[in-house]
Amino acid sequence: MMASSNPIERSFELAAERCEDLTPLVYRRLFDAHPEARTMFRTEGSELVQGSMLALTIDAILDFAGERTGHFRLIISEVSSHDAYGTPNDLFVAFFGIIAQTLRDIIGADWSDEIDAAWRTLLGEIEGLVAAQCEIASP
Ligand code: HEM
Repeated sequence: MMASSNPIERSFELAAERCEDLTPLVYRRLFDAHPEARTMFRTEGSELVQGSMLALTIDAILDFAGERTGHFRLIISEVSSHDAYGTPNDLFVAFFGIIAQTLRDIIGADWSDEIDAAWRTLLGEIEGLVAAQCEIASP
């Protein structure tokens, strides 16, 4: 497979070469940093939900960082459904940073300045997207 020239995509590729499944690492990091997040998931079947939530989030990230065909809109639509799950907006946004930190850990020395800069920009843009959505929801 040809290496992607998109630094965000590249960071996921590099991680995939080293780690088969990000799910346990991402949620361990999330629950360490934000223990209150653990109780937001129902116990029964929560592993399935967590796996699918991460897969869909990554899908949205790759779309947002790439072609923007529409999958990224999940980020906007999930803001209000997560309100209903009891997930505050800042925690919702923090999930993206948790994913970035997990990748960085796995990739180690191959986490380049270019990848770092791309993630910083992306996290800022996502924060803006979520903030704008919140203003619309509660003016
Ligand atoms: C730390 C932040 C987050 C927490 C604590 C959280 C929590 C939850 C909870 C409690 C559910 C429902 C589980 C259930 O039905 O019992 C859920 C579902 C879901 N979340 Fe999150 N969420 C977070 C961030 C995100 C983000 C950033 C996205 C994507 C932009 C996202 C996308 C989804 C989707 C798509 C579902 C439905 C999953 C499915 O049933 O297939 N979540 N989340």
